[in-house]
Amino acid sequence: MRNSSFIKGLDDILCGGFISPSTVLIAGTAGSGKTNICLQSLFNASGRGEKCAYISLLSGSRNKVISTTRQLGFFDDQVLTSGMLAIHSIGTDIIAKGDFSIFEYITDNVLDTSPTRVVIDTITILESIGSTFEEREFRGCELRAFTQSLFMEFEERGILLMVTGEINPESITVSHWSYMADTILSLERKTADSGLERHLEVIKMRGSDFIPGKHPFVIDPEGIYMLKKGT
Ligand SMILES: Nc1ncnc2c1ncn2[C@@H]1O[C@H](COP(=O)(O)OP(=O)(O)OP(=O)(O)O)[C@@H](O)[C@H]1O
Ligand SMILES: [Mg+2]
Repeated sequence: MRNSSFIKGLDDILCGGFISPSTVLIAGTAGSGKTNICLQSLFNASGRGEKCAYISLLSGSRNKVISTTRQLGFFDDQVLTSGMLAIHSIGTDIIAKGDFSIFEYITDNVLDTSPTRVVIDTITILESIGSTFEEREFRGCELRAFTQSLFMEFEERGILLMVTGEINPESITVSHWSYMADTILSLERKTADSGLERHLEVIKMRGSDFIPGKHPFVIDPEGIYMLKKGT
């Protein structure tokens, strides 16, 4: 099944939208647009009747997420008050307790509400977590095993999961996070003579074709939208 990204021009690049269920990694450096692309997708989907959740994993408090997003055209108070879009913040108190605490928070507060679309912003924070029961840092493949079992919980419930990653475009194809995602969108920002240039590239999409190459996009008060090449 395909679910619209709700980013103007992106569904065409994805040959019909995101595959659901699947895990989509939105990768990029600071300020590349990761959070905005995810929130625009959630606000628009919940406005059309989908139950959605955004989980900030050390990406700011609930109030901060709301106050920064309020400036953008897709923001809609109604979906927050109706509960169609839930915004959660997992802070250092839970993260410091390790894998089980994070898993328990997500199960009790997000999965049990039966959402169709969920964002975890930023997944790469998991690199610093440890084991709750053994009170030690993760060893060997434990991080990968934990992440895969977390992603599996979403997939088994038919949820479209979008995760953001602080990953540089140069290292995206060799990042261990990339092997765990079904789809990867890499966002890039560059300062050019003409001003700020932003590009989105689909690195892979399991089970689908896509339009390759660097696709220009803009962020303005309306939100994010793709530009037609040459505009
Ligand atoms: N109203 C606006 N008009 C133009 N650009 C905007 C507007 N609002 C936000 N932006 C741009 O969006 C950028 C932030 O995007 P976003 O928060 O999605 O990035 P990010 O990749 O999540 O960054 P981080 O890694 O810091 O979390 C800002 O740096 C700014 O350039
Ligand atoms: Mg962000």
